[in-house]
Order: sequence, then C-alpha cells, then structure tokens
Amino acid sequence: MFPVLLPADRVLLTAASLLWTRLFCSSLSVPDIPHIATYFGTKTRYEDAYPHLLQDVYSVNTSVLRPPATERCSPVHLTAVIRHGSRYPTAKNIRRIQRLSELVRTGASRGSAGSWLQELQSRWVMWYTEDMDGQLVMKGRDDLRQLAKRLSVLFPSLLSEENVRRRRITFLTSSKHRCVSSVEAFQEGLLLRGGGARGGDSEVEYSHQVDDELMRFFDRCRGYVEGVENNLTALQEVEKFKHGEEMEGVRRRMMERLSLHHEHLTPDLVEAAFFLCSYELSIKSLHSPWCFLFDDHDAKVLEYKSDLKHYWKRSHGHVINGLSSCPLFHHIFRNLDKAGRPRRSTEASPEPASVLVGHAETLLPLLSLLGLHKDQTPPTADNYHLQHGRSFRASRIVPYAANVVFVVYDCERGPRLQLLVNETPVRFPGLDTEDAPLYRDVRAVYRHLLDGCDFHKECEGTMVGRAPNIEL
Ligand SMILES: *[C@@H]1O[C@H](CO)[C@@H](O)[C@H](O)[C@H]1NC(C)=O
Ligand SMILES: *[C@@H]1O[C@H](CO)[C@@H](O)[C@H](O)[C@H]1NC(C)=O
Repeated sequence: MFPVLLPADRVLLTAASLLWTRLFCSSLSVPDIPHIATYFGTKTRYEDAYPHLLQDVYSVNTSVLRPPATERCSPVHLTAVIRHGSRYPTAKNIRRIQRLSELVRTGASRGSAGSWLQELQSRWVMWYTEDMDGQLVMKGRDDLRQLAKRLSVLFPSLLSEENVRRRRITFLTSSKHRCVSSVEAFQEGLLLRGGGARGGDSEVEYSHQVDDELMRFFDRCRGYVEGVENNLTALQEVEKFKHGEEMEGVRRRMMERLSLHHEHLTPDLVEAAFFLCSYELSIKSLHSPWCFLFDDHDAKVLEYKSDLKHYWKRSHGHVINGLSSCPLFHHIFRNLDKAGRPRRSTEASPEPASVLVGHAETLLPLLSLLGLHKDQTPPTADNYHLQHGRSFRASRIVPYAANVVFVVYDCERGPRLQLLVNETPVRFPGLDTEDAPLYRDVRAVYRHLLDGCDFHKECEGTMVGRAPNIEL
C-alpha cells in the first residue's frame, strides 16, 4: 500500500484530492485488495476469483469429488489442462502502459497542484520494461506450486511424489517461457512436503515436453487465423462496444478524475490503466493508485469488454474457435480411453496423470468445444444490460492458473468421468443430473466430435508441423 500522506502545507485541497483521500481511506478497512479485483478477466488472480483461498491458499474441499455415493469408486487417472500463472504484461501492453505513463507525466506537469493527476504522478513510478514480455513472475510460480499441492491433496494416489519421481506422470507444455516456467513450478509443488518455499529438495529434475501443436493449436489453424483472429468483421461486436456508450462513460469519468483532455485518452489507454491496477496486484500484491480511477460500474464495463473479446475470438462466438482445439480434444480423450477401458488384472495400471500447460487461449476453445459456459443469449455490443447474470465470465473461467481436470474413476458399474473447472464440479451438457456420469455416457454425448472434429478438415489443410509459428 502507498502511504496516506498529504502535504500539510497544502492550502487548496481540490475536489479531486478530497475524493482521492476519501476513496483511499475507505479502502483501509479491506487492506491490499482493490474492490475491483474480481473483474480483471484473464488478469484476475485465482484467489480473487475463488476467495476462500485468500484465507488459506492450501485449503482443499474433498467434497468436490463426487462419484455416486452408492458405488465404490476410486480415481485411476486424471488429465489436467492448466493455464500458466501470474505474469508480466506482454510487450504490446507494456508499450500501452508507457504511453499512459507519458500522458500522466505531461498532464501532471501542466495540471493544477493537488490534482489527482499529480497524486498519481507522485505515488507511482513506471517500472515495466519491454523485455519482461509476458514472463512468469514469482507469484506465478507460487500459483502453480500451490495448485499442485491442492490437487495432490485431492488426488493423493495419482499426483503422488512417487509417481513424479518415477516419471509415471506426463507433463506437456506450450513453448512459451511462462508456460515452461509454470510446468516446472507445478512439478516442484508436487515434490514439496508442506507449504512454503523449496525445502531440502534443491535438485528437482524436471521432465516435460514442449508441444505447440497441442497447446497452441490456435496458431496453426488457418481457418481460425484468417476467419477470426485477423478478421475485423468477425470481431465487430468488440469494436462496437469499445467505441460505444458504456465505454465512453468509463473514459469520460476517468478523464474527469484525472482532468485530462478528452482526445488523449483512447479506449486502449483506459484499458491500460485498468490492467495496471491488475498487474500491480498480481505481480506485487499492491493496491495500486491506478485502481482508484475505477468504480464497480466502470470495472464491470471493462470486464464485459474483454469478455466480449474472449467470446467472439476464442469461444462460442464462432464455431471454428472451438474446432481449432480438436487436436487437444482428441489427445485428452485418448488418455481417458486408455484409463477408462476394461483391463485384465495382469495389465499394468494406466498412467496416473497427464498435465498439460498452456494459455487462456488453450482453455477457452476447449471449454467451448465441450459446450460449457454457453449462455442462451450471446453477448453483443448492444446487450450489456442483459448480461449481468451471464456464466461466460473470463474472470471466473480463466484467471491465472485456471485449470480443467478430467477425472476417471474406476467404479462398480464401470468407469466414470468427472469434470472440474478450477477445482469446482461442472456437469457435462446433456448429462445434467450427474457429477460423475458413466464414461460411456460422456462418450455418447461427444460422439460427433470423437468421430469427427478433424483438425485438417476444419482448419482447411493447414500445414501442421511445417507452418512457421508466427509468434516465435
Ligand atoms: C465443502 O463443500 C461443500 C459443498 O460442495 C460445502 O457444503 C461444505 O461446507 C464445504 N466444506 C468446507 C469445509 O468448506
Ligand atoms: C470474416 O468474418 C465474417 C463474419 O464472421 C465472415 O462472414 C467472413 O467470411 C470472414 N472473412 C474471412 C476472410 O474469413
């Protein structure tokens, strides 16, 4: 927290700094966490989305495992798809932050003494550099270690230390630095006894493979890249909302608070200020002065703006978004098939776990392919006011360290499958009465995908394996 210090010799307290003081002081009762921390979309901390973890980051509620009480069952396999942890902004966002910082600096030198702009200028120093480009931060390593520990408490027989040491668990990751660091941290978490920092176990031998075909399928699907990612028409709802009346209201209020000139503050810079609040929280656990520029209403509008983007660019908005994840879908079900098929007693038990680390852009298409988080009314630029109860909220679905876990149970009536999204039970569409339906019933629900969902066909003959990875 920054110190509450107003110069004693200040004669003219402007309305802006009075407001500042009031907002700041009222926040003292809730130390450290900005009131808007649950609206940061993919930049939300996991524990702000699931606040029981704020009390105890290792708290695990085993009642989330729900095979039928009438049957004897034991978990025999899990496949987990996990997003990397908290990270620095990407270079693109750092450049925006630089522009915003410049705007504040020049504005403050021209503005009246005691203005909000000057407060901001005196309380915050630009410290981001472009070379930080999206790398995992310390907190991000903690995110993954803590998640690993919680999951190992939930599944002691699958994610056991012994299974890690004997290399019975497969670890795959996207090639991005933040994901490789995350998969390492996850392995550390499985090997650590108790909480806290690394113990006497300094020589963790990591064992993971990089696989961008699985974890960054979106780069390789031409139908997706051309039809959606680089297609302004496909994303027009986002553009419309960005320049629509709700966003204009947020921009106007921010401008008034800062006494800035209208034309300088673009919607991109408004968003940069909002994200700054999120970064300072997720990287440094700071309640940044930037947070005071937004009230709840503003934060909800900005959250909606980024949800619109995720919806149209990565999720249900276009069928190809989900279909681009077909390779990952098939990979997962091949794992599950192996664990879920009947075995002779002489056969080796299946691989206990498979851990796949990727991006929000990996999880969202997969979840939409599975038919999850699909509201009746699609979010558009014009229906913000109808969307308050939507289930499609990136803040809840894909915060840092978000995870989707498929659990195969061996049960008396046959294998069963349960899905957990962020350690919370989620039911398969069409099987709405059971948390852990029979595996064959899940296969029946997804039959059309299991028999189809052909990446080459859906993505129009992209050159998988030969295509250059445009982001690397
Ligand atoms: C665990 O979760 C169940 C619901 O799934 C809830 O009823 C119970 O109170 C929780 N227990 C704890 C200790 O939080
Ligand atoms: C761009 O998106 C629009 C709307 O989804 C679609 O009709 C059009 O075919 C797309 N253009 C390309 C080049 O794929």
